[in-house]
Amino acid sequence: MTQHFEFSFYSRSSDDTVKRGKLLGAHLTAGSVIGLVGDLGAGKTCFIKGIAEGLNNTPADEVTSPTFTILQEYPGPVPLYHFDAYRLSGSHDLEAIGFEDYVGTDGVAVIEWADRISDALPDDAIMIRLEAISENERQFFCRARGTKHCAILSLFHDCTTAVAGAEKAR
Ligand SMILES: Nc1ncnc2c1ncn2[C@@H]1O[C@H](COP(=O)(O)OP(=O)(O)OP(=O)(O)O)[C@@H](O)[C@H]1O
Ligand SMILES: [Mg+2]
Repeated sequence: MTQHFEFSFYSRSSDDTVKRGKLLGAHLTAGSVIGLVGDLGAGKTCFIKGIAEGLNNTPADEVTSPTFTILQEYPGPVPLYHFDAYRLSGSHDLEAIGFEDYVGTDGVAVIEWADRISDALPDDAIMIRLEAISENERQFFCRARGTKHCAILSLFHDCTTAVAGAEKAR
């Protein structure tokens, strides 16, 4: 039976989003796959800035949407492969960049506009949908499938909930 885990949280600023991305990044391991879905300006890249920092200390300001290059690699002990599928017309465009060599292999793959290439993504992955609630507030809907990604998302859930709780108590 496929395992599922899901939860949602709110971010109240772009700094908050980077901070939470960092918490998730710290729990990711080689082979992790994260698909991000949300409108222009939803905060996908902002969240990935945090992931890059938490995963392998890539400075957040080095991370931008690879809209024209499709793939940007951030090297480290566990490399980050950052895809942006915005300009792709579908998953058939992925062959040219060797997508399969990057996803579920030695690094972490994060994909902006993952819904555009959903048929090329493994079932075993974390999918995150971002919704803008107001100018500075975003809601994140997170869902994992498969034992490994469920365990990662569950750890992220525990620490991101703890951080939010601590901030409320201040
Ligand atoms: N809570 C928040 N989380 C993330 N970004 C926020 C938040 N509040 C405001 N913002 C602003 O929203 C914008 C998010 O931009 P970002 O590039 O991360 O979006 P994106 O989803 O990657 O867009 P695109 O599809 O164009 O690549 C930034 O200008 C950021 O400052
Ligand atoms: Mg982006």
